[in-house]
Amino acid sequence: MRVLKNLFERNRNWAEKVKKSDPDFFLKLSKQQSPEYLWIGCSDSRVPANEIVDMLPGTIFVHRNIANLVIHTDLNCLSVIQYAVEVLKVKHIIVCGHYGCGGIKAAMEDKEHGLIDNWLQNIRDVYRYHQDRIDALQDEKEKINLLCELNVIEQTANICHSTIVQSAWKSGQELAVHGWIYNIEDGILKDLNVCITNLDEMSQRIK
Ligand code: CO
Repeated sequence: MRVLKNLFERNRNWAEKVKKSDPDFFLKLSKQQSPEYLWIGCSDSRVPANEIVDMLPGTIFVHRNIANLVIHTDLNCLSVIQYAVEVLKVKHIIVCGHYGCGGIKAAMEDKEHGLIDNWLQNIRDVYRYHQDRIDALQDEKEKINLLCELNVIEQTANICHSTIVQSAWKSGQELAVHGWIYNIEDGILKDLNVCITNLDEMSQRIK
């Protein structure tokens, strides 16, 4: 119980495997990281950033929380964005949600969940903005999945409105904000086509 032996075993095997295909891999990475992507995703164990896009360590800077939210007062998430944009100079910020998200489901339920309800309140706000569209659907699963998509779009808007991204665009830094959604049932990513790359696009597409 105290020592998770199997995980350490797996770790050693993994490190060996990586070294076999590239003997200098860890040495190179230990000197610096220069990821091109910042991934903001859900904590859900079925949606691991690197695995989904089949990328090695060193390629994606990652922040995950329940239901992939970007809240303007969340210093944790904002610090990640600031470091990624200002220091690592990532070229892409990807908000990746997923269908059937437990956080989204919980936010739509009419019952109490304790502390987490304060976090889920942010999703209930997204639901309220789009209530007509969501309530027009009959099927519960479809309603949840539409809110999963709308939530991603809302979070990309939050990123675009952040002072960090605004300053980056004002100074001419190359930076694109993307909204994607992942299907747990087949492992496939979908682009929600809400990519924004500068202030002009933002003022045209985000109200
Ligand atoms: Co989720």
